[in-house]
Amino acid sequence: MRKILIAGNWKMYKTQAEAKAFLQSFLPHVENTDPARGIILCSPFTALDPMSQNLHGSRVRLGAQNIHWEEVGAYTGEVSGVMLKEIGVSYVIVGHSERRQYFGETDETVNLRLKAAQQYAITPILCVGETKAQRDAGETEAVILAQLKADLVGVDQSNLVIAYEPIWAIGTGDTCEATEANRVIGLIRAQLDNPDVPIQYGGSVKPSNVDEIMAQPEIDGALVGGASLEAGDFARIVNYE
Ligand code: 13P
Repeated sequence: MRKILIAGNWKMYKTQAEAKAFLQSFLPHVENTDPARGIILCSPFTALDPMSQNLHGSRVRLGAQNIHWEEVGAYTGEVSGVMLKEIGVSYVIVGHSERRQYFGETDETVNLRLKAAQQYAITPILCVGETKAQRDAGETEAVILAQLKADLVGVDQSNLVIAYEPIWAIGTGDTCEATEANRVIGLIRAQLDNPDVPIQYGGSVKPSNVDEIMAQPEIDGALVGGASLEAGDFARIVNYE
């Protein structure tokens, strides 16, 4: 059975105080949400601890935005699985295109981070997706299949989420057509050994397009950036029709 998972990726937004204020406003909106829908909030590292305390007893799961592959060591600026687990983190985004583009993450480091998350029983959300130039050159399928092949070596597909995030649709307001996202996600699923891995779509998901996106048969959820920052918008997304 594939799970439905709606995740907010707050990126580098929200102080601790802003994160707490968000939860106060957001949590009442999901009290009656279908229990079959998983809800995840991925905050910056600095807000994880207050988020964890304020989510205690709630159905919303906590996510981080990256994880290092070693448990401890001289890796300035990195955070390990043991540290995330201690705070109560259940999910972690790995291989987001912003990490790959701006911080030099490669398929090799993405693979190490995925395996590290699983070692700590944290579920990684692996992001894959093509650039506009790659799409225009007809390379979408090849790029994504190559990412999957390299990223998933030795990864346990029973504790994994994948997000298809076309880079040209991130933060641009330019959503991928729902049917096209559905097609690519079907292709991704065909590459997997486990057909039950939940596969999300991400890229300019908002209250006005979430219903159409979630109506697609291959799409199991959404990874939401900008529209997850406002409690009312994210509540509308989670409570899609
Ligand atoms: P937007 O929803 O702001 O386009 O961001 C998508 C994203 O990158 C989620 O990880």
